Amino acid sequence: MASPLRFDGRVVLVTGAGGGLGRAYALAFAERGASVVVNDIGGDVKGDGKSSLAADKVVEEIRRKGGKAVASYDTVEAGEKIVKTALDAFGRIDIVVNNAGILRDRSFARTSDEDWALDLIHRVHLRGSFQVTRAAWDHMKKQNYGRIIMTSSASGIYGNFGQANYSAAKLGLLGLSNTLAIEGRKSNIHCNTIAPAAGSRMTETVLPEDILEGLKPDYVAPLVLWLCHESCDENGSLFEVGAGWIGKLRWQRTVGAIVRQRNQPMTPEAVRANWAKICDFDNTSTPQSVQDSTGSMIGVLSKIDSGGVSTNRTSHAASTTTSGFDEAIGYQLPPFYSAYTELEAIMYALGVGASVKDPKDLKFVYEGSSDFSCLPTFAVVLAQKSVMSGDLGAVPGLSINLSKVLHGEQYLELYKPLPRTGKLRSEARVADVLDKGSGSVILIDVYSYYEKELICYNQFSIFVVGSGGFGGKQSSDKVKPNICVVKDSYLYFELTILLY
Ligand code: NAI
Repeated sequence: MASPLRFDGRVVLVTGAGGGLGRAYALAFAERGASVVVNDIGGDVKGDGKSSLAADKVVEEIRRKGGKAVASYDTVEAGEKIVKTALDAFGRIDIVVNNAGILRDRSFARTSDEDWALDLIHRVHLRGSFQVTRAAWDHMKKQNYGRIIMTSSASGIYGNFGQANYSAAKLGLLGLSNTLAIEGRKSNIHCNTIAPAAGSRMTETVLPEDILEGLKPDYVAPLVLWLCHESCDENGSLFEVGAGWIGKLRWQRTVGAIVRQRNQPMTPEAVRANWAKICDFDNTSTPQSVQDSTGSMIGVLSKIDSGGVSTNRTSHAASTTTSGFDEAIGYQLPPFYSAYTELEAIMYALGVGASVKDPKDLKFVYEGSSDFSCLPTFAVVLAQKSVMSGDLGAVPGLSINLSKVLHGEQYLELYKPLPRTGKLRSEARVADVLDKGSGSVILIDVYSYYEKELICYNQFSIFVVGSGGFGGKQSSDKVKPNICVVKDSYLYFELTILLY
């Protein structure tokens, strides 16, 4: 059986942990070895009042069971103070679960300026999550580790009568989380969002008793724990969770239609004429980033500029001029050579973060070291002429605009250590062409040899912005996983270095 997920040595801060969902998280983390800060202001469901009782009771419950916990009674708007409680008690902060929340339902027509601007809803949910997370952020960055949860709601995702204020704040949290996921990635800080459904004082007045019984907070907590575990790679995602079910959500976009022609005004009539196509979800893409989103617009621009659009017929937002992929797939690019000396290898190592201050790096940055070596990932640089030389533009059937090419993913297999100086001969071929909706992906396999010996294999995945939507396949068995494999046991000692 797989080993249980433990949180020994980890410090977790759960806001609004005096009851409902937050209490379930706090208890579950503590049971699995974490030190927990139980934060709760102890007010009522509308945010009125204040009491230390709620947090104290949960802390007492955790300690009774042999766990470690301290209480914090501050409002989440005082994020610095709450995080200080964690640092004072346990010396660090690893995990923040932004959970505190209140409800003040009011129909949109009755929501006044004052309600919106001064209402506690935004202050507790959005500002509170911001304050607590920002207070923890630098500590997480310094320790190169952090896990953050934002608590959204189905009301934010789908809208709900009487909850204009609440849903705006709740979807705001998703936007915040999506950006933190991007900004935190390089520091191993992951941020995910959940939209839970659970029986609590917040829902007890709106849901029947038997349903509440089936929606225990304990059926949400396991997802939160998994997302916050160091072995979980999930980042920037949104999940609905309740009653023992968990589902992941993503954005879906129709293929859409181009409704403008070169040198012609864009008209509402053209929008109307294409409305069915614009809203047709039979064919969709799932953009996952701003780049995915704007990429297809750039594709549209070139399509319009080339005059290849007619508003009488509907067309793909990112249609492509590529055809005849049969000719392209398997095409062998001209072989090429990459010569290097210790100087280039050292420049690369310095460029990716090796330092003379770190004794273990010395062999990568000082040619006088007795065990001087090239960083294994230098092999990617030696093979990248395949995609940088312009030869790709000559592949029959591809007709790529090289100004729209982005480096997607990278796979590397090393069979031998790179010689400390030398000249590698590389052979590259097009392994496959995929249709990713807003763009196409070209897979290039590159084999590099030193004299007659195969040293390494690279797979470059090249994203061509705006050239997707041609009805091609979305995946291929030629795609390599996005990891690095070292085939020779005597290279294992260098594996950690690959993390640069
Ligand atoms: P709950 O009312 O049982 O728990 C919320 C806790 O947050 C309370 O103990 C409260 O004292 C605390 N709190 C409120 N304002 C605070 C502040 N300024 N500072 C510190 N603590 C504060 O509610 P429940 O159901 O456990 O909700 C937890 C979170 O899940 C909330 O963010 C809620 O909006 C969200 N949610 C819950 C759903 C459900 O089905 N229960 C559905 C969708 C979202």
